[in-house]
Amino acid sequence: MVAIGVLFGLASGAVAYFIPWLPDSASEEAKTIDAVYWMVAIICAIIFALVAAVSIYAGWRFRAAPDDEEDGAPIHGHTGIEITWTAIPAALVTAMSVFSGLALADIEDIPDKHRTIQVTAQQFAWSFTYEDLDRTTGELVLKEDEPVELLLNAKDVIHAFWVPEFRMKQDAVPGIETKVVVTPTKPGTYDVICTELCGLGHAVMRARARVLPAAEYEAWLAGEPGGGGGGEATGGGGGEADGKAIFTSAEPSACSTCHTLADAGSTVEIGPNLDNVLEGKDEDFIRESIVDPDAEIAEGFQPGVMPKDYGDRLSDEELDTLVKYLLEATGG
Ligand code: CUA
Repeated sequence: MVAIGVLFGLASGAVAYFIPWLPDSASEEAKTIDAVYWMVAIICAIIFALVAAVSIYAGWRFRAAPDDEEDGAPIHGHTGIEITWTAIPAALVTAMSVFSGLALADIEDIPDKHRTIQVTAQQFAWSFTYEDLDRTTGELVLKEDEPVELLLNAKDVIHAFWVPEFRMKQDAVPGIETKVVVTPTKPGTYDVICTELCGLGHAVMRARARVLPAAEYEAWLAGEPGGGGGGEATGGGGGEADGKAIFTSAEPSACSTCHTLADAGSTVEIGPNLDNVLEGKDEDFIRESIVDPDAEIAEGFQPGVMPKDYGDRLSDEELDTLVKYLLEATGG
């Protein structure tokens, strides 16, 4: 029995150890969450080995002979074993709760000195507003080793914010503000994923999170996009914007978070590639595609994904500028 138990223990240990189950770990919080995960996984592996050993041994050792028609011995309870199989799981579950509780307190705790970013979710895009910078972007830009508090809001239905490499996941709910604390530790580009079924475009509701080393972050603060493609914008600045700026800015349009357009340097392919679908089209078609996106659907795409409120979000002037820009950029 001991041999079977050791065998199963080693087998599940090998499966756990040699297969990379978790995504990259890129935040302070990820370490804590992974520690809880592995603690629970180890407890499960031990229990699995124990149960497998007892069941396989009992199945083999106490199997009835083919001609044995006798009933088994009538056994009514065993106080010692019952106390054992109640006490051990109770102790394990309590240990897991305490460990998880401490981990939760740890990852939700944020130092006084941190940055606060407003995260807005809507069908089907993310936008990020840096409170102290008066800047809104379509991608989340973070500084390595700087704790940030992300305050989540939703404009329409429930969405959920998740960056697998940061581990932290939280719902964005209309009408209330939820929060996520993250201290990114590894420069790189990660996916921001919506993990709450929020409509037709749920599967494509993604953005990028870019973690920059301190020096590059300072450069980004100073206004250089620092190698990022789309989503750069100044928030609420007013004034006269050119068409490309409207196309790439997070508010009010955020076109570049979904569409490829060579002229604007965007390469995202969530929605139709504008270099293809707008090629040779006239002004009226482009205008209609923006204000009434379901009027004509590009091949391979579904209606109801692109928001229908761009006619309201953009002022008449902005809409005209955007249409004119798209007309020129796609050679219409
Ligand atoms: Cu937003 Cu799913």
